[in-house]
Amino acid sequence: MGEVKMNKRKRTFSGIQPTGSLHIGNYIGTIKQWVEMQKDHQCIYCVVDLHAITVPKKPEVLKERIREVAALFIACGVDPEKSIIFIQSHNPDHSVLSWIMDCTASMGQLERMTQYKSKSEKQKGFVSVGLFNYPALMAADILLYQTDVVPVGDDQKQHVELTRDLAQRFNSRYGEVFTEPEVSLQKVGARVMSLQDPSAKMSKSDEDPNGTIDLLDSLEEVKKKIMSAVTDSGKEIVFKKEKLAISNLLGIYSQLGNISIEELEKKYQGKGYGEFKKDLVEAVVEFLKPIQKKYYRIMKNQEGLEKILKQGGEKARAISQKTLAEVYKVMGLG
Ligand code: AMP
Ligand code: TRP
Repeated sequence: MGEVKMNKRKRTFSGIQPTGSLHIGNYIGTIKQWVEMQKDHQCIYCVVDLHAITVPKKPEVLKERIREVAALFIACGVDPEKSIIFIQSHNPDHSVLSWIMDCTASMGQLERMTQYKSKSEKQKGFVSVGLFNYPALMAADILLYQTDVVPVGDDQKQHVELTRDLAQRFNSRYGEVFTEPEVSLQKVGARVMSLQDPSAKMSKSDEDPNGTIDLLDSLEEVKKKIMSAVTDSGKEIVFKKEKLAISNLLGIYSQLGNISIEELEKKYQGKGYGEFKKDLVEAVVEFLKPIQKKYYRIMKNQEGLEKILKQGGEKARAISQKTLAEVYKVMGLG
């Protein structure tokens, strides 16, 4: 594996599906880590469109969503000068290694994936083989780049652990080809909860739009959603298990406003939920404004965006080809 990686910096790989609009949970759990890791890691960030088609999608909507998500990565601070940003389907190596991972994973391993269980139950009638195999594709995404670190939200931890298991099985069958990746989770915000139901994850597929703050929500919408967010009984503004709703709001405030939870608890000692929420609206709005401005600027220059994605795809493939060549060699393929 050392031969494939020329660079001493640790390598980061992560991806987000182009389904629905991105929300502050995606940012806090994932993209915030991506931006920070650019300082000292070699980073590869991917719009995973092949994952999106595990559930049928309208072609024209998918195409648009892919560009929107890529533009949001950049608007949030992923820098195309420092990191590789690309579209998964631009690099066919993902599909090739995915098949090899299908032959490395057992049915039992994939059956244990909790996300498959919950997603397949939500499908009406049709469940694709792709939805079942999806974690093998995710393992291929990660292993192709000899990834050291995978920054994701809490719900993806099980998939990264499976990736490690598959790397180990492959390496013990054929020799040391793959790096075993580590998962990276935020200490606060690995699972941002719904504003309307703090026992459920904030999610793109939430039926209640008031539970989720999208990165492209209007500033009026943000205000409405935060002011109507559910709170807990009692008055105290403290971070603890029994206060799910307030802890969630404190986590959001802390992560988007870059203030520690302790400082926030001190600031709001003896103050009411109303005042706290008003300040939170301000913090979220201040956070979103520059992102939205940058996003609309990027979307106006589609040519520039296409160029970034095309170049990103080429750079990604240059790395993955080396891994794939080694895989073919050790397996006796071709
Ligand atoms: P998804 O929205 O499911 O496509 O997830 C994209 C990325 O955002 C994954 O790394 C998820 O783990 C992360 N993510 C999604 N929802 C949340 C959330 N509510 N809190 C923290 N991270 C999240
Ligand atoms: N499965 C992830 C999600 O739904 C997206 C994803 C696909 C991913 N491939 C990846 C994340 C590789 C990290 C690394 O959120």
